[in-house]
Amino acid sequence: MNLVLMENLQRYYGTGNGGVTVKALDGIDLKILPGEFVAIMGASGSGKTTLMNIMGCLDLPTNGKYFLEGIDVTTLNPDQIAEIRNLKIGFVFQSFNLLPRTTALENVELPLLYRRNGQSTRAIRDHAKEALSRVGLEDRMDHVPSQLSGGQQQRVAIARALVNRPSLILADEPTGNLDTEMSLEIMTLFQELHGSGITIVMVTHEPDIARFAERKVVVRDGKILQDGPIPNPARAEEVLKRFREEHTL
Ligand SMILES: Nc1ncnc2c1ncn2[C@@H]1O[C@H](COP(=O)(O)OP(=O)(O)OP(=O)(O)O)[C@@H](O)[C@H]1O
Ligand SMILES: [Mg+2]
Repeated sequence: MNLVLMENLQRYYGTGNGGVTVKALDGIDLKILPGEFVAIMGASGSGKTTLMNIMGCLDLPTNGKYFLEGIDVTTLNPDQIAEIRNLKIGFVFQSFNLLPRTTALENVELPLLYRRNGQSTRAIRDHAKEALSRVGLEDRMDHVPSQLSGGQQQRVAIARALVNRPSLILADEPTGNLDTEMSLEIMTLFQELHGSGITIVMVTHEPDIARFAERKVVVRDGKILQDGPIPNPARAEEVLKRFREEHTL
């Protein structure tokens, strides 16, 4: 079954008051299978974030259908949408969006506290620790964001996105605030997660980052201009290794 199925999806902004209508999305047909690693590319203003917001159930289309794991999201009420989002989606943002005076561990615990499901405080802590270990930060759990590098902060954000075991990770420009080495570390992690079966959809402006995905979707003026496999995705781990060799004496 498709994890994501969008049919003739449109998102128009500013239809009120006789003003100009912006067709942020204008007839999107998109299918994503479980386990895919997709890069979404396109110029500024082409509709990438609008598309991610709808995919992540943060926003609804003006017209058209969106099915997430077979569920017609456009028929749900706001509480049901919030629940689906918490259960099925993990978000990673360009600006990390961590709580500043809160440790890495507490930041990762937050999504679990929102939907406690009868879990003990201890179980929540253990889950969060496991997610942080998965991103290689077991020795930084008690650090607050200002005590972490940008790449480490983004790894905390990825652990937070993973902790609910979502069906889909959505990352909007995850390397936009990171230098080359940190970007390659994040791509190494994404490829590891992808290798373990996690579905990732990532927006990026940079062809150097998109080449680590397995499929490229190009958006222009709210439409899909191009959609196809990336023949030989680069191995981030190897590119990172080479980069470090060239940049250390
Ligand atoms: N809340 C809004 N109200 C009105 N117009 C909006 C709103 N959000 C986005 N738009 C418009 O919709 C279009 C698509 O915006 P979107 O943010 O999806 O682009 P993007 O591809 O993510 O761009 P960028 O690469 O700069 O992040 C743009 O023309 C934008 O101005
Ligand atoms: Mg955007």
